[in-house]
Amino acid sequence: MPDVKQEVNSPIRLDLSKPFMIEFPELGDTRGHLVIAEGMKNIPFNIKRIFYIYGSDKNVIRGQHANKVSQFMLINVAGTSKVKVDYGNGRTEIFSLNKPHVGLFIPRMVWKDMYDFSKDSVLLCLADTTYDADEYVRDKQEYYFLKNRF
Ligand code: TYD
Repeated sequence: MPDVKQEVNSPIRLDLSKPFMIEFPELGDTRGHLVIAEGMKNIPFNIKRIFYIYGSDKNVIRGQHANKVSQFMLINVAGTSKVKVDYGNGRTEIFSLNKPHVGLFIPRMVWKDMYDFSKDSVLLCLADTTYDADEYVRDKQEYYFLKNRF
């Protein structure tokens, strides 16, 4: 049998229709750590926009939307948070972001809630689009309708 090698850091080969966590290369030396996230390499899209969320209290729920067009990679570069995704078919999943070299890929049309932010949480969000308010679905019933119409 040939030796089949699976590169864990190659999301290009993964199923991009579902959320997944990915570990980025960590180059550390005596000076400290360096984490590399590169568009079309270990980020499965070209990065057009970054934004980051910090200073959210523990009881705050952010996100609460799905995006018709944008894909995201979320990285807690400091602190911790959780992301709950709702697939619109009765299934939900919770991802814990607690390492600066781990990202969560979120595809289009997946409802997401970000919550349980630690005091020191800095949640970095990379997107493949520039901002367009019209591509956001912010009403959960509309989201369920759009997901289940066929
Ligand atoms: P919002 O989408 O509610 O943030 P989150 O998903 O993190 O809870 O965005 C808050 C405000 O910022 C809202 O008025 C839209 C604006 N905004 C932009 O102008 N550009 C952006 O890239 C993002 C993410 C938000």
